[in-house]
Amino acid sequence: MDTRRILVTSALPNANGSIHLGHLMEHIQTDVWVRFQRSCGHQCIYVCADDTHGTAIMLKADEQGIDAETLIANVKAEHEKDFADFLISHDNYYSTHSPENQAYAHLIYNRLKDAGQIAVRSVNQLYDPDKDMFLADRFIVGTCPRCKADGQYGDNCENCGATYDATDLIDTRSKLSGAEPEMKESTHFFFSLSNFDEFLREWTRSGTLQDQVANKLSEWLDTGLQDWDISRDAPYFGFEIPDEPGKYFYVWLDAPIGYMASFKNYCDREGLTFDDFWRTDSDCEVHHFIGKDIVNFHALFWPAMLKTADFRTPTRVHTHGFVTVDGLKMSKSRGTFINARTYLDNLNPEYLRYYFAAKLNGTVDDLDISLEDFVQRANSDLVGKVVNIASRCAGFINKQFDGRLAPQTGTPLVDELVQAGDEVAAHYEQGDYSKAVREIMSMADKANQYIDEHKPWIMIKDEDQRDQVQQVCSDGINLFRVIMTYLKPIVPSLAEKSEAFLNVDSLDWTVRETTLVDHKINKFKPLLTRLEMVNVEAMVEAGRETGPQTGPQESEQPKAEEQTVDTIEYDDFAKLDLRIARIANAESVEGADKLLRLTLDLGDEQRTVFAGIKAAYAPEDLIDKLTVMIANLAPRKMRFGVSEGMVLAAGPGDKEIFLLEPHPGAKPGMQVS
Ligand code: 2FM
Ligand code: ZN
Repeated sequence: MDTRRILVTSALPNANGSIHLGHLMEHIQTDVWVRFQRSCGHQCIYVCADDTHGTAIMLKADEQGIDAETLIANVKAEHEKDFADFLISHDNYYSTHSPENQAYAHLIYNRLKDAGQIAVRSVNQLYDPDKDMFLADRFIVGTCPRCKADGQYGDNCENCGATYDATDLIDTRSKLSGAEPEMKESTHFFFSLSNFDEFLREWTRSGTLQDQVANKLSEWLDTGLQDWDISRDAPYFGFEIPDEPGKYFYVWLDAPIGYMASFKNYCDREGLTFDDFWRTDSDCEVHHFIGKDIVNFHALFWPAMLKTADFRTPTRVHTHGFVTVDGLKMSKSRGTFINARTYLDNLNPEYLRYYFAAKLNGTVDDLDISLEDFVQRANSDLVGKVVNIASRCAGFINKQFDGRLAPQTGTPLVDELVQAGDEVAAHYEQGDYSKAVREIMSMADKANQYIDEHKPWIMIKDEDQRDQVQQVCSDGINLFRVIMTYLKPIVPSLAEKSEAFLNVDSLDWTVRETTLVDHKINKFKPLLTRLEMVNVEAMVEAGRETGPQTGPQESEQPKAEEQTVDTIEYDDFAKLDLRIARIANAESVEGADKLLRLTLDLGDEQRTVFAGIKAAYAPEDLIDKLTVMIANLAPRKMRFGVSEGMVLAAGPGDKEIFLLEPHPGAKPGMQVS
């Protein structure tokens, strides 16, 4: 195997707020990928930093009566601790307010300028005469010109969705002082992005982006690239532009350069060569993990800047969607705007790592955390399936055989699981962790079945079957070893405890073929305790208290829109009678491979519906679940009976089909609107 040399980054969190579920999803997604690469023996360096510049941070420091440097130092310490406690294995966590970042920002800017790609233009902008500063859109409020809602920001209306220029607002005021802003002229510096149309059309289609993202970018490219304003006037917390007193780099100019700066700082400490990774003909890889709202910065501005400044461009930009909780945007009033620390005060971080991994599929679709599903999955998969394999075998080996495993393996299943590792690895590499997890859990099911079939707890009663007990339990331990190897990137602490129990140096991918024979294991201590709903409820309650602390973000990115679909008329939609249904009963249908017969309770009546979801659900798991049905579908005669409606599910089919589960507050019979 060739050892790859890979540099990986997650987007730099803003230094004016706490780490929350959104950041955690991204850092966990990145960390799993990084740990997987390291487990395969590759050199994989993971760097990040706090994104420290901009007006918002300057104002926040003012508000707290401290200087910006103190604020960012305090926040950085908090962020580092949060990430460490979530087992995020950054090799370096740095700051964009650093000498390295200033040096690279200057270098890149000078190269852009030398290449003739910096334009100087005069700009008219609103100015706060009381505060003596220009105002970004987020610091201007007024009445929406369309719907007349008051208190709307300078770029768009949260009430009616209108977008406009700040000057179109009625009764415009500075959010900072309340003063009426004045129009004032100033010189700004622009990066001539419009010159990069051809380069970006090619680059965005060169396998560096997911197709969904490349498609969205090609729509933007078709509407025409605008030059990018990269300067801001004093007062501004950031780096002054060389030879341009009073002019500062816009925070988004030096933020991605912060990836390089953090890496440079790491190289200097560890004796690595920065240029090996960043020169144009580098054979190393650079991977960025980001959210879909900042695609334009990473897949348009950043590659164009790097190319012009004579650095390599990223190997791949991995883009993900947003986090929702129980189907809704995270919200303080619902207690679902959960900060990292609030989570950690109540729950084990590995449950969240596992849950995110089980749902991340390498697309830009949003990821929903259903709190009930979270508890159920963590318990049934990690505790009920995986840890259970070790706990049911360890007792026999330790008590009856002095901790010693049998001298050979007794089932081809061990080898089967080892061989299946290549497929699991391919899913990790693609970022489709949900498929990897599904494979691994089906291995755990097979391991449990193997033990169930041989029943060591019965065999042990017969002295003649002692060897067989040792064999089956040793096999179980070896199956557990392979499964934990595959899960290690997701649950590193559980894997470390498993390593201690198994008495092995590592559970790395590279040694997954090394079966444990005639090997002494250690005493089994409980590896993981069940996740309790009361703790989740306590966390949600605490989330109501803390909520978001992130200040306004300064950005000018067009928001990545949702995928476009062919539209239907409202009247078409209104014809559907969608209802909440409780699954009162679910059973297999004799003679049908794919169907389950569902009895659906609609509050005042019951319906029979045949659903093709047998590959994805065991009937008993569905009983009492809520789902959504189309209640006015004409009855359909099928081979097995009449189907009186249809349940709604998502996914491509077979095992990957997921019934829609409404919020637990919904009641059977309620109309879905
Ligand atoms: O969106 C954000 O939170 C930014 N702070 C991300 C910056 S990523 C990189 F470009 F620095
Ligand atoms: Zn409006």
